[in-house]
Amino acid sequence: MPNFQELIQKIKELNNIVEFNEMQIKALKEDYTDKNLIIASPTTSGKTLVAEAYMLNTILEKRKRAIFISPLKALTSEHFYNFKSKYEQQFDLKVGISTGDLDSSSKYLDNYQIIYLTFEKLDSLIRHRAPWLQTVGLLVIDEIHNLDTDRGAVLETTVVQLKQILPNIKIIGLSATIPNAKELAKWISGELIYSEYRPVKLKKGILFDNTIMFDDKSEEKIQTKLGVLEDLVADTLNKNKQALIFTNTRKGAESLAKKLALITNKKISEKEKKNIEKAIEEIESSLQTDYDKETTNILKCGAGFHHAGLRGSLRTKIEELFKKAALKVLVATPTLSQGCNLPAYRVIIHTIHRHSANGMQPIPVKEYVQMSGRAGRLGYDTSGESILIARDELEQDNLFEKYVYALPEDIESQLGYIPTLRTMLLSVIANEVIFDDDSLTKFFESTFYAIRFGNLHSLMTKIETVLRELISFGFVKIENNVIKPTEIGKRVSELYIDPLSAYNILHQLNRFDDFTEKEFLFTLVNTVELKPYFMPQKSKHQQLEEDLQENYRDLALDTNDLWDDYEILEKYYTYLILQDWVSEVSEQDLLNNYNVLPGTLHNKIYICEWICYAIGELAQILNKNTIHKKSKTIERRIKEGVKEELLLLVELPNIGRARARKLHTNNLKTIGDIKNCDPQRLINILGLKIADKLMQHLKMNFDINTIFVPKEEQKQKENKLEDKIPDKKQRLTKKKLETAKTQKSLFNY
Ligand SMILES: Nc1ncnc2c1ncn2[C@@H]1O[C@H](COP(=O)(O)OP(=O)(O)OP(=O)(O)O)[C@@H](O)[C@H]1O
Ligand SMILES: [Mg+2]
Repeated sequence: MPNFQELIQKIKELNNIVEFNEMQIKALKEDYTDKNLIIASPTTSGKTLVAEAYMLNTILEKRKRAIFISPLKALTSEHFYNFKSKYEQQFDLKVGISTGDLDSSSKYLDNYQIIYLTFEKLDSLIRHRAPWLQTVGLLVIDEIHNLDTDRGAVLETTVVQLKQILPNIKIIGLSATIPNAKELAKWISGELIYSEYRPVKLKKGILFDNTIMFDDKSEEKIQTKLGVLEDLVADTLNKNKQALIFTNTRKGAESLAKKLALITNKKISEKEKKNIEKAIEEIESSLQTDYDKETTNILKCGAGFHHAGLRGSLRTKIEELFKKAALKVLVATPTLSQGCNLPAYRVIIHTIHRHSANGMQPIPVKEYVQMSGRAGRLGYDTSGESILIARDELEQDNLFEKYVYALPEDIESQLGYIPTLRTMLLSVIANEVIFDDDSLTKFFESTFYAIRFGNLHSLMTKIETVLRELISFGFVKIENNVIKPTEIGKRVSELYIDPLSAYNILHQLNRFDDFTEKEFLFTLVNTVELKPYFMPQKSKHQQLEEDLQENYRDLALDTNDLWDDYEILEKYYTYLILQDWVSEVSEQDLLNNYNVLPGTLHNKIYICEWICYAIGELAQILNKNTIHKKSKTIERRIKEGVKEELLLLVELPNIGRARARKLHTNNLKTIGDIKNCDPQRLINILGLKIADKLMQHLKMNFDINTIFVPKEEQKQKENKLEDKIPDKKQRLTKKKLETAKTQKSLFNY
């Protein structure tokens, strides 16, 4: 077992690091192994490494587990893979990750000593009282400034609960952008490690006319030819560097990438293009819509865009290609602004305004700092630039003052927001962390909110309102001054759904012993979790309203719902999309008819599956067995996007909704039908490759020499034949191969 000094030497070696930097030297001290820490230092200053050292120390020295949480699934897995590849074998550790399945104590995680999670997953594990949590010695919170986002309340409550369940847990919070870092350190009763040292010089500048003025007073001229952004990008490419551009909308990201592809296309070689094409081929089978194909056409020119509407496989591929410098330019919405290591020399923030409830608003400085921080990353570059674009000199001055020289805003607590407070309060009552007035006060006194505001007056009024609401929902009761969860309240908390959604679902379940498919799907859509609902275009409103007037009874709605619910049209529209999805409408048609991008569709489907599961669980508690049973079928239909009759077929490997429908249309409706089917027919339906895999899976024998395959699949057949040649009989089978080739040629007309 290495001591702390030996451990950090080993870490240095494993990371190929010559010297720890100023912040790391400050932060890596044996004295700190038992202390809580807030590390507030610039982007790319190597905060992860400090956390990793204490994680390893927790395992190797203290023999306890360490948890690392971060706000985004993609960032969590980036950290997980990095840690795993560097240390797992070296220290004989088991490293695990979980970012999904929120109604589970994920028992398998017990096998791991280091566990990577999202904020929500850790919260759900606490609700499920995962037994292995008792052995956690360290919690690392990456990007802790997310306390100030809509997911901040989850994070804040999780930390307070964990501190109460495990009074000795060590906590480390990491962030680049916390001016009130002292307050954060006070909250977790920890030391503050503060540094302004950024190992890679980041110049922040504003472009106006043809000149970038930087914060260090230097200037850089840009050749003007095409347009502001195009010129900046061309200049970056001439320096043989990559550019990351942030914009505020998905459409904006797409159109800018298309425009910039014209420039990158001229700069990349044929070989580079071939490499991109090859990389795209690896995910070809997942690309189903014209939108996917158009995206790949842009990629083939050496440019790309990145937002949540992109299909997961494409998004990951785009990140990979940009990291490998195959893509020279990437235009992103803020999805890529936190934590990730990308090889961008230049970050260009194309627009600093964003749509909000109050119209277009300038982005906060902390977001500007995060975006800028993606430029000039250690390991990729020795300097970097972040550039804003001004239309005139006045704006240039303004941007310097408002962004470049400005301090980021303080981090605020978001605990006072009633919808999140509702969920969080039920969770802490269900976990029995709060059980009377004293424990309630003690809990909220330990929050960041209490530190930030100095008192709990206004929060307490809100808490009382929310508590009364939870009691009226039947999820909480007060008996002899003891606050208790009801049985159903406990289950609602475990199911990780908003109490308001649960209340609405229970209301519908109490009305019916069975749901029609329409009633089921609408009940599912009519929940807080499905927000934001899909928005119909204005031109469709009248038609939708008329449809809804005609059909609302089928959805278990009454007239009041139509008048009182101001979101009813969006809910109905979202319901129609879900209905089409489970009726096998293709992704292309969903895109054409509703303008739903593949990534957005699949994100929503994932949430629908989860709510469907929750409806089933709540139905079981109310003994509504028919609905419970139905929920299992509908959940699988939502997952696969199929009618019930295809559920058996989509269980087969490589058989998705389209292939399953093909089989069914050809009267192959069961496994038995397929097993009894003539292999040639199966190949005609599915193609050689898929049919062969399926036949192998079902252990069906067939003689490849008797198979006819269309010309474009001949090569596969040859490979198949060669695969089937046992080593010892090579000569004999070579002859067979020759015969097969002549046979094939007979069909080559
Ligand atoms: N002392 C060092 N010398 C050289 N490279 C280092 C050193 N410490 C860390 N690195 C490397 O620097 C890169 C950036 O580090 P890291 O991702 O931890 O930054 P960060 O501080 O978390 O930034 P952000 O706030 O943007 O998340 C990583 O690739 C890491 O391996
Ligand atoms: Mg980081």
